[in-house]
Amino acid sequence: MNIQDIIAKKRDKQELSKEEITYFINSYTKGEVTDYQAAALIMAIYINGMTDEETTELTLAMAYSGDVLDLSSLGEVIDKHSTGGVGDKITLILMPIIASFGIPVAKMSGRGLGFTGGTIDKLESIPGYNTGITIDRFISNVKQNGISLMGQTLNLAPADKKIYALRDTIACTESIPLIASSIMSKKIAAGANKIVIDVTCGSGAFMKTRKEAEELSRIMTSIGKLANRETICIITPMDEPVGYAVGNILEVKEAIDILKNKYMPEDVKDIIQELGANMLMLANKVSSIEEGKELIIENIRNGKAYKKFVDLVRSQGGDISYIEDTDKFEKAKYIVPITAEKDGTITKLDALTIGKLSCYLGAGRQKKEDSINPRVGFVFKKKAGDEVRSGEVLGYIHADDEAKAQEVLKQEFVGIKNGKEPLKWKKN
Ligand code: URA
Repeated sequence: MNIQDIIAKKRDKQELSKEEITYFINSYTKGEVTDYQAAALIMAIYINGMTDEETTELTLAMAYSGDVLDLSSLGEVIDKHSTGGVGDKITLILMPIIASFGIPVAKMSGRGLGFTGGTIDKLESIPGYNTGITIDRFISNVKQNGISLMGQTLNLAPADKKIYALRDTIACTESIPLIASSIMSKKIAAGANKIVIDVTCGSGAFMKTRKEAEELSRIMTSIGKLANRETICIITPMDEPVGYAVGNILEVKEAIDILKNKYMPEDVKDIIQELGANMLMLANKVSSIEEGKELIIENIRNGKAYKKFVDLVRSQGGDISYIEDTDKFEKAKYIVPITAEKDGTITKLDALTIGKLSCYLGAGRQKKEDSINPRVGFVFKKKAGDEVRSGEVLGYIHADDEAKAQEVLKQEFVGIKNGKEPLKWKKN
C-alpha cells in the first residue's frame, strides 16, 4: 500500500477501505507520511466528503492511534463535549451539577484555539488550579469528590492532534467527516461510556446552519453506536455569546455567580437543562427529560452544585478564597463602556466578531504556544431581544491596552433595530 494511491483514490471520489484509512492514520502518526501528503488527502476528503463507513473507520483509527483511557474503576462515566463557541462556560456549570447527583465526572478538556474559548484556560485563571495532575490523582479525585477536570496530558488520539493542527493551516476546519472523527476519536480515547455532545450552531460556531448541525449530529450519534458509546447530540444556538461574559476570568466569575444562584441567563438555563436532563436520563437518575430539567435547576438552588465546584477547585490545588469572593480575581486595567447609538431592540450581538475581538484583546491564542491574558474580554448587560435606549450601557470591554479597547469600540458587533417589539430568545 502507498499513500500516493490513497490520495489519488480520494481525489477521484472513490471510497477508501478500512485498511487504507488505518494505513494513512498509523503512518502519519509515526511520521512516515509527510505533512504535505496528509494535507493533500485531507483536502481531498474536505472536497469530496466521506461515506458514513469511511468516517467511522477514520474515527476508530484516530481513537486507537494513542492511549485509550480505562475508567472502568469509576463505574459508568458520562462525558460532555461542545463543538465550541464564544462565552461557552457550560462545562464549568454543568459538570459540578452532574457530580452533585453522584454521577462520576472524569473529564479531560482542551484549550481555546482561534476565536473559541477552552475550559482548561478558564480553570487555569483560578490561582493554584492544577490542570496537569497525574492520571492517578485524576482518578482518585473522582473517587473522593466525584469530580475532576484536567487537561489532555495523556497521549490521547495523537493522530487527531496532528490532523487538527494541519486542518487549521490549510483551510479545512469546516468539514463534517473531519469534525465528527476529530471529536468522536477523542471521546472514545477518553474512556467515557456515554456521551452528550453540545452541537453549537450559528455565527460563532463551526456549523453555521441547522441542516449542517443536524448532519454532524447524525454521523456522531451513529459512530457512537458503532463504538458502543451511547451518544446524544443536542443542537444549541451560538449566534450570540453564551451568557453575558466572554474571556477567561470573566467567564469563571459568571459561572461561579450562576452556581451561587445569584442570577441565571435564560440561554444558559436552557442549555444546562437540555444537556443535563439528557445526562441524567443516560445515568438512569430520572425517568423523564422534564423531571431532569427540574432537578438540574434544583441542585443549583439548594447549593449542592456550588459545593461540588468548591470541592473540585480545592482538590486540584485552587485557592477557594477566590471562589468565595470573586472580587479577588485580577481585573483588566481599562473597563470601557459600550453604549447604544439609538433607541430600539437589540437584533444581534455577533458571536463570531465578539470572539475574534476578544482574541484581539488577548483572551485567545492564534497558535497553540501563544500565552493568553486571563483578565480581558467583554461583559454584556443585554442580550438579543432586549430593548435599549440611546446612550444606555450595553456592556463593557475589559482591556489591558487602552488603544485596543478604542479599536474594539469602532467595530460593528451590536445590531439595534428601531421599534419596541422584543425578540424572544429562541432555540436555533
Ligand atoms: N472540536 C474538535 O475537537 N474538533 C473539530 O474538528 C472541531 C471542534
